Amino acid sequence: MRYELKTLREKLGPVELTLETIADLDRAIDSLCEGVDEKSAERIFVEELCPYFGVVWPAARALGEHVARMGSWLKDQRILEVGCGLAIPSLVAAKLGARVTASDFHPEVPVFLARNQRHNELTFPYLHLDWRASQNNLGKFDFVIGSDVLYENSHPKDVARTLSSYCEKKGHIILADPGRSYLQAFLDELQGFGFRYDILIRNVLDGHNDRAGDRRTKEVFVISCTSQS
Ligand SMILES: C[S@@+](CC[C@H](N)C(=O)[O-])C[C@H]1O[C@@H](n2cnc3c(N)ncnc32)[C@H](O)[C@@H]1O
Repeated sequence: MRYELKTLREKLGPVELTLETIADLDRAIDSLCEGVDEKSAERIFVEELCPYFGVVWPAARALGEHVARMGSWLKDQRILEVGCGLAIPSLVAAKLGARVTASDFHPEVPVFLARNQRHNELTFPYLHLDWRASQNNLGKFDFVIGSDVLYENSHPKDVARTLSSYCEKKGHIILADPGRSYLQAFLDELQGFGFRYDILIRNVLDGHNDRAGDRRTKEVFVISCTSQS
């Protein structure tokens, strides 16, 4: 799929990134769905391919800033990001010397990731990981992270199971969420897997538009979880 693109500079705490993104998400979705009947079987397939990965979501800014402020603590730590989209937190963690693996299920994510790694002179592995069917054959990580990955009914269960299955016994899960209605269900699932959590709120720039002078902010919940066992 060909999208109109734009390149941005994002400052996340002390870390600055150059990011190639989709210029207008709504327009990209419209052109993807153009001519596809709403009731057809093809529509379900097309909806799965909606390019939500390609823009800077407020939750990614919040998690990116959170990771940036962890600083040298992250050096050599093993980090897995799920549903990474543009992989902003992964890029930040890699800048700080962490051993990062980014993952998503959308076939175009690795294309954007490769470009954004180049823009920021970074390299780290990418993995196709669909949290609906995830079986851990990768081992465990010190940090398993994700931002804005709780937006469908099935996500709390699938995401909690996947995050906890990749998290080292004494490791951490960090998830950023813009206050979506499935957040509490996710926290309940995680508690069921034996994790306890702390929540802090970060105020970040809202939306993915960068109209001059638009400085609206949004509260994002950043949840840090550790295993009780
Ligand atoms: C709202 S976007 C957030 C992207 C990125 N984490 C951010 O905050 O900018 C949701 C992401 O979850 C990914 N995703 C959706 N369903 C998934 C699944 N079943 N397995 C893995 N990733 C999935 C999408 O491809 C997309 O990149």
